[in-house]
Amino acid sequence: MMKFLILGGNGFIGSHLVDRLLAAGHKVRVFDKYEEHYRKPIAGVDYRFGDFGNRGLLADALVGVNTVFHLISTTLPKTSNDDPAFDIQSNVVETIFLLEQCIVRNIKVIFVSSGGTVYGKPLTLPIAENSPTDPECSYGITKLMIEKYLALFKLLHNLDYTIVRPSNPYGSRQNPNGIQGAISVFLGKVARNEPIEIWGDGEVVRDYVYIEDLAEGIYRAATKPTESRIFNLGSGTGYSLNEIVETIRTVTGREVQVEYKPKRTFDVPRIYLDIARARTELDWAPVVSLPAGIAKTWEFVMGLQVI
Ligand SMILES: NC(=O)c1ccc[n+]([C@@H]2O[C@H](COP(=O)([O-])OP(=O)(O)OC[C@H]3O[C@@H](n4cnc5c(N)ncnc54)[C@H](O)[C@@H]3O)[C@@H](O)[C@H]2O)c1
Repeated sequence: MMKFLILGGNGFIGSHLVDRLLAAGHKVRVFDKYEEHYRKPIAGVDYRFGDFGNRGLLADALVGVNTVFHLISTTLPKTSNDDPAFDIQSNVVETIFLLEQCIVRNIKVIFVSSGGTVYGKPLTLPIAENSPTDPECSYGITKLMIEKYLALFKLLHNLDYTIVRPSNPYGSRQNPNGIQGAISVFLGKVARNEPIEIWGDGEVVRDYVYIEDLAEGIYRAATKPTESRIFNLGSGTGYSLNEIVETIRTVTGREVQVEYKPKRTFDVPRIYLDIARARTELDWAPVVSLPAGIAKTWEFVMGLQVI
């Protein structure tokens, strides 16, 4: 049986990957700073707690593992420009240590990069994996740096790796009080009868992928033999924030107020991913429609004790 380690496995995406791996009967170990926020620890999962920068604890967690999923990020697109040196140190430099350990221990690395930031402003839509990469935030640059080191270490040391570039995942266990994830944050506001805040005119277009579809894509990227090493994982369709709000109105049946605010410099106007490569090589395609995914997310948000 393969033994999988998920770095950041108690977060939003990681927790769904835990579910997917357990459903397939795999042994799962999680390395994270904190416990899961929305669930109790799961029987059978080997939890290891520590900071990604604690090299001793990280090395211990790698013992006996075949494949490691790297989902830890110490920054968000919005916050990363505040302190790029911290972004590089805590993400890139610590990931180099991880990769060196994986080379020595013969561990395959699945790196969760970012489809929303590594390309920057797309020249063509939908945007494919081989498009130019000109990130417009430090987070996108550090994701890309890690991608480049994976390729370099393959060349130098035959490190086995696959990179996934998710679009904008949404669904259960995404924090509705956070600053990341428009759909969850909007639904949190609607549940509290607060107005939704939109920066700009609401015509910013993004690619939203339901979390269980994304977890399935990451799982396939890790377990299927593939020719390519980089996969976009998204819905392949773009929706504007105004369309999202409209769908939320329909799904929740609530009055939804919107407050439009000045637009933000780091938001590229339109982006959605070309997912042809994942369709062909991973035999993967998202199955949850936007209204169905929003309905499932709404159910999660309304089920929380305190929203
Ligand atoms: N959510 C998105 O919209 C999105 C989109 C594309 C890519 N990603 C990437 O996917 C990965 C997971 O994102 P998520 O949305 O699940 O985030 P999340 O914040 O829900 O989960 C990240 C997990 O990593 C842990 N973590 C953070 N810093 C740590 C540290 N220094 N040491 C140990 N653990 C640490 C957190 O405790 C958390 O459980 C990240 O790499 C993120 O950049 C996210």
